[in-house]
Amino acid sequence: MSDQSSVNPMRQAIEKAQASALLAIKTVSDLPALRSLSADLNKKDSPLNALKTELGKLNSVDDKRTMGQLLNSASIAVSAALDIRTGEFEQSEISARIVREAMDLSELVTNRRRGHSHIVTQATMRLEDVFIGLGFQIAEGPEVETDFNNFEALNMPKSHPARSEFDTMFLEYGEPGSVLLRTHTSPVQIRVMQSWPPPIYAIMPGRVFRRDTPDATHMPVFHQIEGLVIDRGITFAHLAGTIEAFTKAFFGRDFTSRLRPSYFPFTEPSAEFDIRRQDGEWIELGGCGMVHPNVLVSSSIDPEEFSGFAFGFGIDRMAKERHKVEDIREMYTNDLRFVKQF
Ligand code: DAH
Repeated sequence: MSDQSSVNPMRQAIEKAQASALLAIKTVSDLPALRSLSADLNKKDSPLNALKTELGKLNSVDDKRTMGQLLNSASIAVSAALDIRTGEFEQSEISARIVREAMDLSELVTNRRRGHSHIVTQATMRLEDVFIGLGFQIAEGPEVETDFNNFEALNMPKSHPARSEFDTMFLEYGEPGSVLLRTHTSPVQIRVMQSWPPPIYAIMPGRVFRRDTPDATHMPVFHQIEGLVIDRGITFAHLAGTIEAFTKAFFGRDFTSRLRPSYFPFTEPSAEFDIRRQDGEWIELGGCGMVHPNVLVSSSIDPEEFSGFAFGFGIDRMAKERHKVEDIREMYTNDLRFVKQF
């Protein structure tokens, strides 16, 4: 038999405990406060939990079950409310953080005064595109080089007269005269041959340095691009054909190239190559030739099995020609009135 005299006050007590727990959860101000409230509500002597010990005092089994279920659903409601409130606080913490840590990038998007690549960089990128189209890979080497890579391995031993043509800047590092600022991109050929097994089809653009007084056509720091092909059965005809294909791809269909006999220690035979402009004038572009057997040997490539050709030319000169710049020094003064024209 249900004993209403003890059940009714208990039902009220449960409802009251549940209501006050829910109110406290709803009005708590922040996450730490919610956490300590949650700890309080989970304590054995919290109002709701204390009522569980009261259950034992009921006499009727029915009453115990009814009140037990009521207490249980009150506990579930309270812990659900705790979960929801915790989620709300965490969500608003995340939103606040997003606002707090947001970066205003609108200026970057709307700023119309955007820069662009320097004309030498533009020329280098176009050269790379053309040679990649011809099946070449791009390689790079350091600007500080050894005497070995810059001269010795390129068939210019210590006493070689050609060394004096490269007005070399040496560094005070290691043995005197052993470390320098590379005077051309040719030492990258040596690095490539020493690290890749043939066949090699590579171009090597980069900055080079010579002890030169700046004038309208010279700078002590300038840029070159080197080309190297090493494979079985490579002949001078491949060299001439590559130069011609490059000339047409880079300058246009109505340009042609020619090779003139010349001398470089690292190639044999050697040539200089010129290109003919639309107005019929020839301009000198660079040097080239068949890689000298001594150069192959110094890079541990067997000249009986492999042969190859190489070429090298100045990039600044090409940018100067293309944009009709009078004085090469203008390209490096960083005067915005000049730079912005291109
Ligand atoms: N390194 C030469 C220079 O700076 C240019 C050059 C000539 C590079 C002939 C080559 C070559 O690869 O075969 O004057």
